[in-house]
Amino acid sequence: MVVERRLAAITSVGSALPERVVPNSFFEDLVDTSDGWIQERTGIKARRFAGEGETTATLAAQAASHALEAVGVSPAAVDLLIVATCTPDRPLPATAAFVQQRMGMSCPAFDLNAACAGFIYGLSVGSSFVMAGNADRVLVVGAEVLSRVINLTDRTTCVLFGDGAGAVLLEPAADGGVIDSVLALDGGQSELLTIPAGGVEEPATPESVATHRHEIHMADGRSVFRRAVVGMANACAGLLEKAGLTKDDVDIVIPHQANARIIAAVGDRLGIPRERVFVDMEEVGNTSAASIPIAMDRAWRDGRLKPGDLVLTTAFGAGLAWGANLIRWTAPGPDALHD
Ligand code: ACO
Repeated sequence: MVVERRLAAITSVGSALPERVVPNSFFEDLVDTSDGWIQERTGIKARRFAGEGETTATLAAQAASHALEAVGVSPAAVDLLIVATCTPDRPLPATAAFVQQRMGMSCPAFDLNAACAGFIYGLSVGSSFVMAGNADRVLVVGAEVLSRVINLTDRTTCVLFGDGAGAVLLEPAADGGVIDSVLALDGGQSELLTIPAGGVEEPATPESVATHRHEIHMADGRSVFRRAVVGMANACAGLLEKAGLTKDDVDIVIPHQANARIIAAVGDRLGIPRERVFVDMEEVGNTSAASIPIAMDRAWRDGRLKPGDLVLTTAFGAGLAWGANLIRWTAPGPDALHD
C-alpha cells in the first residue's frame, strides 16, 4: 500500500506593526539607561508601541489579513485559527475569538501561550492539523502588546520589548513545507521570567498594581541569556540531525528576535555564518511570539526567502519554553504571486 504523505506548506505571510515608534531615548527620561547601552547590549534602536484602540487582537487581525490578501484567500475559507500570545486582550475569552470576529471568520480558533516560543509551538500544532488532514487552511498568528505589561521603572526589562503581529497561512502540499519541529519546556525555571500577579494565583489588587507585580519580571537576565543560547542551539542541532541534514544545508535561520548578541551566539554555536542568520530587532525590539513571523514576513517580502530554501526557526522564552521548526520554503515572493 502506498501512503502519500500530506505535508503542510507556508503559502503566505503577513505582519502588522503599530504606528507609534518609540526610540531608545524615550527610556532615558524614565530609568538610568542610555541609547548607547541599549544598542550595544541588545541591538535594539527602537520599537513600536500600540496606540489607543490597538490591541493584540487588532494587530493579529491586520497581520492575518495581509497574509490572506497576498494570496487572495478569503477569511471564510480558513479552517482553523491559532493565536500565539502571552498578552491576550482579556483573560476570557481567547484573543482568537476577537480576531475571528474582526475578520468575519467562522472557523474554530484558540489561543496558545508558550511566551516567546509561541510561534514555534503554533507552527508545530497548525502543521499537524494540516498533515493529519483535519484542516486545509490554518492561520498561525503570533501577536503581542507587551508595552502594556512592561514595568517602566525596571531598566533591565522595559527597554527590551515591543508590540506587533505576524501571521502565516498553512496549506496542504505534496512536497516541502514544515518538515519537523522540536518543542521543549522546563517549568522548574518558571520564576526566571514571569508576570506574578493578575492571574488567579494572585489576583490584581491596588497593591499588586502599585508594586508592578502585574508586569514583566525577569529574575536574572544573564541566566536567561545563557539558557536561551544553549536551548535554541541544541534545538536546532537536534532537529537537523533528526532530519539527516547538516548546518551547511540551512539557507537561513530566522530566530526569535530577543537580542542581537543571543542570535549571534546561537549562529556561532551552530557554525552557521552570520549572513545566513536573519537579524531584525533593530526597529521592532523583542515582540515575543510575534517576532519570528514578523521577521519571516520582512525576509519574504525582501526576497531573502526563496522556494527551495531550507529555513530554521527557533525561539526561547518564559516557561522556560523553547523549540525550533525546520521548513522547506515553497512560497514564491509576494510580487510573483500577483504576476
Ligand atoms: N541600561 C543600563 N544599564 C543596564 C540596563 C539598561 N537598560 N539593564 C541592565 N543594566 C545594568 C545592570 O543593572 C548591570 O549593572 P551592575 O553591573 O551595576 O549590576 C549591568 O547593566 C550589566 O547587567 P547584565 O544583566 O549583566 O547585562 P547583560 O549584558 O547581560 O545585558 C540583558 C542585559 C540585555 C537583559 C541580557 O542579559 C539579555 O538580553 N538577557 C536575555 C533576556 C531577554 O531577552 N529576555 C526577554 C524575554 S526571554 C527571550 O526573549 C529570550
